[in-house]
Amino acid sequence: MKLWGGRFTKQTNQLVHNFNASLSFDQKFYEEDITGSIAHVTMLAEQGILSSEDKEAIISGLKGIMEDITSGALEIDEEHEDIHSFVEAHLIERIGDAGKRLHTGRSRNDQVALDMKLYTRKEILEMDSLLKNLLESILKIMKENLDTIMPGFTHLQKAQPITLAHHMGAYFEMFKRDRDRLHDTYERMNFCPLGSGALAGTTYPLNRARTAELLGFTGPTLNSMDSVSDRDYLIEFSSAMSIIMMHLSRFCEEIIIWNTNEYQFIEIDDSYSTGSSIMPQKKNPDIAELVRGKTGRVYGTLISLLTTMKGLSLAYNKDMQEDKELVFDAIDTTKGCILLFNGMLDTITFKKDNMRASAEGGFTNATDAADYLVNHGVPFRDAHGIIGQLVLFCIDNNKSLGEMTLDEYKAISPVFEEDIYDAISMETCVEKRNTIGAPGQKAMQEVINIYEKYLAE
Ligand code: ARG
Repeated sequence: MKLWGGRFTKQTNQLVHNFNASLSFDQKFYEEDITGSIAHVTMLAEQGILSSEDKEAIISGLKGIMEDITSGALEIDEEHEDIHSFVEAHLIERIGDAGKRLHTGRSRNDQVALDMKLYTRKEILEMDSLLKNLLESILKIMKENLDTIMPGFTHLQKAQPITLAHHMGAYFEMFKRDRDRLHDTYERMNFCPLGSGALAGTTYPLNRARTAELLGFTGPTLNSMDSVSDRDYLIEFSSAMSIIMMHLSRFCEEIIIWNTNEYQFIEIDDSYSTGSSIMPQKKNPDIAELVRGKTGRVYGTLISLLTTMKGLSLAYNKDMQEDKELVFDAIDTTKGCILLFNGMLDTITFKKDNMRASAEGGFTNATDAADYLVNHGVPFRDAHGIIGQLVLFCIDNNKSLGEMTLDEYKAISPVFEEDIYDAISMETCVEKRNTIGAPGQKAMQEVINIYEKYLAE
């Protein structure tokens, strides 16, 4: 059934129909379309615009359609233009004339704006709960690794010793901010466009606050032109998803590096690895690579949407139909990646001995050795130079700072005493860093307590 045949004298060209139609993808929100329609007719009847018999007939017809689509009894065929036409046609087929009154005081423009908002709202909440699960996995690793020493890096060069808990905590912060971004988007978008009509409201005495309330919105939107042409929330959501993917991708990059034969900081579980068809020895981190790779795809949604919207005059333009496939794909991709990543992270084995040996090996305690001299009265700039000489000596003699003899130390500076060894032990390096946000156990424990409370809320 077409919703607009009246003023046409010719059939639509088949290719035009195919090009114009959105049913193949907007059927994804059939439930939201029907839920919106039920709220609409409930309000129409309350306002005396629709009889209560018609309302009852429409609602039970719509519920039947929803059940039948869900059970598979009613198949969504490609003959209709979009999910809105599909549902309306089937309603009329099932309940007759009452069905023809469903669209009173409504346009597909406010209808699709509503459906997409309802769908997005639900998906934001689902994504948020997946992120929460991921934060729980990260926090578990943090709690188990307060004293697992590893090198911290800058420029991917060993810098200073940290702990695995501290490293994981950085990702906790990132995904926590991601949840905040989702919450912000949700709050800002949660206004109901229904009742905005095609662009200029309607002549019926609709109660827009009531439909907003029935559908769980904060209230109705305040400008009907904006209501039918606002896709900001999809751009914001795509931006939030792009940032989530960027965080996952950085994490994946580290996992890929840590999993190499050169690093051996971790072992990805067999159940989350793949093999090679030719090289029998290979165990590849494909999941991490795929998550990293799919990041580009989600960025693509953000850029595509921004580009689609940039030249559009008010109000609705068909260009906006392009929002759906893009955003659906970004949502499915991001959710899938969070889920898979979480599973991979949960089953990773951390090779703590290798992490510690790596931290010992790369002069990660050089700053602390300089601080030792400063504490014994040497100006920092001089101390920096002295430790530089020590490092050179160690490189030439294939030693770490901890392996030098006291005589060797004293040959470079007489200030060194026996207590230098304790001052530059990995434990001391970490434990001396106990300001909030630093890797020392006390500081980390405080942060973990805050995170526990946050996740319990
Ligand atoms: N499929 C359309 C979309 O996704 C629905 C709105 C159609 N409105 C219209 N005036 N043709 O945007």
